[in-house]
This record gives sequence, C-alpha cells and structure tokens, in this order.
Amino acid sequence: MRALVSLALVTATSSAYANEPTTTSSIAPTVSAEDGAAAFLDVARVLQSPRCKNCHPVGDRPLQKDEGVPHAMNVSRKSLEVGMKCSTCHMETNADAMGIVGGPPGAPHWGLPPKETPMVFEGLTPAALCAQLNDPAQTRGKDLQGLLHHVAEDALVLWGWAPGGNRTVPPLDHATFVKRFETWVNSGGACPE
Ligand code: HEC
Ligand code: HEC
Repeated sequence: MRALVSLALVTATSSAYANEPTTTSSIAPTVSAEDGAAAFLDVARVLQSPRCKNCHPVGDRPLQKDEGVPHAMNVSRKSLEVGMKCSTCHMETNADAMGIVGGPPGAPHWGLPPKETPMVFEGLTPAALCAQLNDPAQTRGKDLQGLLHHVAEDALVLWGWAPGGNRTVPPLDHATFVKRFETWVNSGGACPE
C-alpha cells in the first residue's frame, strides 16, 4: 500500500512523499479538468456508499445497514460526550473474529469525524462533496495530497472493503478507487457541475 501511494505521489509531485508539506495549488495539474471531474464522479459513488456514508452522516448519529438507518441505542456524538466510547462495543477487528455474527464491526480508532469538521457525505451532490474536499477548513487542514494519503491508507477507509458480516462493499475496488482519487487530485481537484 505504501509503495502504491509513493508511486502516486511521485507522479503528482515528482518528489517522493516526505515530511515537507505540499500545497496542491503550487503543483501544475497533469490531468484535464474534464477528466478530473469525471474521476470525481466515481470517487463520489464510493463516498456515498453505505460503508462510508454511515460514519459521515448529517447530524450527530452514525447510521447502520445499507439503508442507513440511525444507529441503535441512541448512539451519537452526545453519547460520546457522556462517556460511552465507540470502542466500548467496536473493537479493532470485526466481531466475526470473535464468533459474533452480525455484531459490531471493528477497526482501529473507530469513531465519527469531529463535530467541528463533520465531513458530511450523506445526501450531498457530487459537486458539493467536491467543494467540501477542496476546502481545508473542512478537512482539518488536509490538502488534496493529504486526502489521497488518507483514502489510500486509513484503517477506517480500508475497513470499508472488509466490513464483516454480510455488509456490502463500495462499488469500486479499493485500488481503482485510489487511482480515480489520484486522477482527481492530479487535476487540481476539478469539480463536476
Ligand atoms: C467508523 C467510521 C468511519 C468509516 C466507516 C469511514 N470513515 Fe472516513 N472518517 C472517519 C473519521 C473519524 C474521520 C476524521 C479523521 C480521522 O480521525 O481519521 C474521517 C475522515 C475522512 C476523510 C477526510 C480526511 C480527514 O483526515 O479528515 C475522508 C476523505 C474519508 N474519511 C473517507 C472515507 C471513505 C472513502 C470511507 C469508506 C471507504 C470512510 N471514510 C469510512 C470515520 C469513518
Ligand atoms: C453499545 C454498543 C455500541 C456502541 C457504544 C457503538 N456502537 Fe456502532 N454498532 C454496534 C453494533 C452492535 C453494530 C452492528 C449492527 C449493524 O450491523 O448495523 C454497530 C454498527 C455500527 C455502524 C454500521 C457499520 C456499517 O456500515 O454497517 C456504524 C457506522 C457504527 N456502528 C458507528 C458507531 C460509532 C461512530 C460509535 C461511537 C460514536 C458507535 N458506533 C458506538 C454497537 C455499538
């Protein structure tokens, strides 16, 4: 996975991913706006698939199931505030590993995005999703390269393709998703209409 990402970043920046911050705006796009916007439509299909959207809801309650029903037991950011952590039930691996069919799925640092930057995916148009990802004020300061790194490597993103139980997986495989995301990044974050 790391090799894939450095490769992606080499094509994007011609320097290996290192600690020096790269601002996307200083990198000349190597992909046309048209191709970038088309790639983003694929990216958006993944972001709005149940495995991603359920943790990126409108409001404070995570969602469950492919239908996106509100999480049972009144779990929300408020239950977090009163001390019921997600990790009370969500372990670092899916409950299947413990022989509990249909139990809580699990991955390291299971949780919702912070209230200040909730990264809502639920119900947004692709254009609105794209604008959100382009706005560092909404991504905790991450630029496009930082986002590419996140979708390539983050444990919660990877969980989407190994969700346990009989949960469905996103419409693109992970490698294709990362490639489409990279194409979008290399267009300078071009947005669809
Ligand atoms: C268990 C909940 C959970 C799931 C499932 C989940 N996310 Fe997230 N997502 C988060 C959290 C929490 C953050 C905030 C950053 C962090 O703490 O890692 C986040 C942030 C992000 C960001 C912004 C980058 C950042 O660092 O803020 C993107 C892009 C993203 N997620 C994409 C996805 C995609 C794609 C999927 C599905 C394949 C997905 N997420 C599934 C919880 C989740
Ligand atoms: C009291 C136990 C408990 C707590 C606390 C809890 N969950 Fe869950 N959660 C579950 C169980 C059980 C399931 C499995 C039900 C299912 O398949 O939808 C689940 C499923 C989910 C799913 C559905 C995953 C998917 O796409 O199928 C998400 C998202 C989720 N939880 C997020 C959270 C977050 C975020 C927190 C903390 C704010 C949290 N949960 C706290 C028990 C809990």
